Amino acid sequence: MDATAFPGAGTPFYVAGAAAHGAGEVTVTSPWDGRTVGRTTWAGDDQIEAAVAAAAGVAEEAAALPAHVRAAALDHVSRRLAERRQEIAELITAENGKPVKWALVEADRAVSVFRWAAEEARRFAGGLQRLDTDPGGAGRIAVVKRVPRGPVLGISPFNFPLNLVAHKVAPALAVGAPIVLKPAPATPLTALLLGSILAETALPAGMFSVLPLPNDRAAGLVADPRLPVVSFTGSGPVGAQIRRAAPEKHVTLELGGNAAVLVCGDYGGDDDLDWAAGRIATFGTYQAGQSCIAVQRVYVHRGLDLLSRLTREMEALRTGDPADPSVEVGPMINEEAARRVESWVDEAVAAGATVVTGGKRDGATYPPTLLTGVPAGAKVVAEEVFGPVVVVSEVPSDEAGFTAINDSAYGLQAGVFTHDIRTAFAAHRRLQVGGVIVGDVPSYRADQMPYGGVKGSGVGREGIASAMEDYTEPRVMVVAGVEL
Ligand code: SIN
Repeated sequence: MDATAFPGAGTPFYVAGAAAHGAGEVTVTSPWDGRTVGRTTWAGDDQIEAAVAAAAGVAEEAAALPAHVRAAALDHVSRRLAERRQEIAELITAENGKPVKWALVEADRAVSVFRWAAEEARRFAGGLQRLDTDPGGAGRIAVVKRVPRGPVLGISPFNFPLNLVAHKVAPALAVGAPIVLKPAPATPLTALLLGSILAETALPAGMFSVLPLPNDRAAGLVADPRLPVVSFTGSGPVGAQIRRAAPEKHVTLELGGNAAVLVCGDYGGDDDLDWAAGRIATFGTYQAGQSCIAVQRVYVHRGLDLLSRLTREMEALRTGDPADPSVEVGPMINEEAARRVESWVDEAVAAGATVVTGGKRDGATYPPTLLTGVPAGAKVVAEEVFGPVVVVSEVPSDEAGFTAINDSAYGLQAGVFTHDIRTAFAAHRRLQVGGVIVGDVPSYRADQMPYGGVKGSGVGREGIASAMEDYTEPRVMVVAGVEL
């Protein structure tokens, strides 16, 4: 369908690689000032069917695409994202409210995700196993190839409207799996811009669709047997629902956490504590705390003077209009989200917590907020706050800090500030998380590394090579009668 045939319908979406418009209009507004950022439309049932049928129909051709074709498409996307990074960052800021400083980081990360995917597509080759390890296998060898499990359904969240879409799309294309993507209803425009760049490539029609849909219309896609892989990033309850609804599918879930930091006993120098305080303040509040690995719980070894430094750093953070390049903390995704955070902080205060700084909501903006004396069961420590709130607690020893970090329903990443290599290894061994970041906050993520969690934080791993493994399964060919 020609997008220009619907001049009033706003940004087109993509059905089997072609621009399209649907029926119900979607107005995307800025979380900062409520202005209209853009318009698109919801995909209709016939368009969903066309997208899924095309994905299923092209799956075999897609799996057989030469590596150079897949890599060229991914390289093209990486290049175009780099060329358009400023425009893309401004769009992320407009529809998500993320400060443009962080939106530029996100755009750059997506450039890297597609570049990595192109490189991995060239390398992804499976392996060989010798079978002559027993007399019965003499003269035999196994060729282990990884083949796509089939078309992927990607469901992405609002907090990284580009890069968490990239983490679903790029590995799928790299292995030759078609993907149907449902972006977050609050932030579809960046995903649609990515769709327009994908449409510039020579990938076969049907290899990708980007369908704006309200969340309550995703169930049909989750249940559709023609999409045997579901990759979801979002809330725990929705992830659990998906798992229950599709027990026979290969489901990967990235479900968030209440990420913790431990400042260990050996980390007491002035420079150490200044570094830790600065990093915790920045990454407890970046993107208004709306990252699954934003610092939420801080455990500090008794006797270390972190609190005064952290208070100073948090109070120095610049809040305001996210389009201003000097602003560090902008609004949350909407006022309802800020009200929820406010109610959680109020609940903690009623239970005895102290607000050291922050704590006063202004519309959709919740300020950088530091709490102490929070009782263990309060939501601000026990659940994912997904807001710019940091809770500091003292621990009597590093060991007690490990125990406190593990005392959580989640386990995504943890940060451990220590110089002691033995403590680093102990943390790596003891902490029940998907990743331990030594010398920094848990919010560090390099896009090529395995990323995901344990316990309530999900199953499966993102990171290009890990997702490529997840989207494929091994297929063995045994060759008999060969001389090795
Ligand atoms: C997330 O919120 O899980 C993504 C964090 C990131 O990619 O930095």
